[in-house]
Amino acid sequence: MAKDVIIACDFSSAEATLNFLDKFPEGTKPFVKIGMELFYSAGPDIVRQIKKRGHKIFLDLKLHDIPNTVKKTMQVLASLDIDMTNVHAAGTIDMMKAAIEGLTRADGTRPLLIAVTQLTSTSEERMQKELLINATIGETIAQYAFNAKSAGLDGVVCSPLEASIVKKRCGEGFCAVTPGIRFADSAADDQVRITSPAKAREIGSDYIVVGRPVTASEDPVAAYNRCVREFLGK
Ligand code: C5P
Repeated sequence: MAKDVIIACDFSSAEATLNFLDKFPEGTKPFVKIGMELFYSAGPDIVRQIKKRGHKIFLDLKLHDIPNTVKKTMQVLASLDIDMTNVHAAGTIDMMKAAIEGLTRADGTRPLLIAVTQLTSTSEERMQKELLINATIGETIAQYAFNAKSAGLDGVVCSPLEASIVKKRCGEGFCAVTPGIRFADSAADDQVRITSPAKAREIGSDYIVVGRPVTASEDPVAAYNRCVREFLGK
């Protein structure tokens, strides 16, 4: 499994995003995450522009709908030549299988497809009281991850602290993509369950997603390089 650092480009315009990417030297092409805010404001064209500059793209749109709608949407996303995208595991195994069908290109290749299990903003108490899920959050994450694996997905998004639960249930080859990354000596912002890049590597993350520690840094290139050094050991 390839390991990499993904920068969460949580900007609200194409201009801000491209200005940010311009800071990186010609030979440095970080893996970039485009989320709902940027995609809904700048549209598919921002994906094409960033791709054209040579970056890999994780399109984080967290699809959750009936299988047919998800399949057709995934066909559109596959045509954007992205490298990774995601769905909610709560959409069921059938929906996840439909997502894979839609994402698979005529030559049999496809972007990586990962599932959101339980959002890290959902507490166990709310999950049990509001969603009437009568299990612990750990059990739910393990089961949703297992469903994603059964449907043929490549991995899940989870907190680094949950990566070991996922690996235990689904095997080492099942990918853990983990946000909630902070340097040991920097602010937590609004993230609660955080881990440093070095610790995420120890725990078994395959891809770390890092936003503000890089995007809000006075020297984003140095901050990104530090993430790479700590996470990939180079
Ligand atoms: O700035 P920060 O490093 O906190 O950004 C983390 C990124 O990962 C954001 O784009 C956030 O939406 C995303 N994310 C997260 N927690 C999840 C899923 C996604 O922080 N459970």
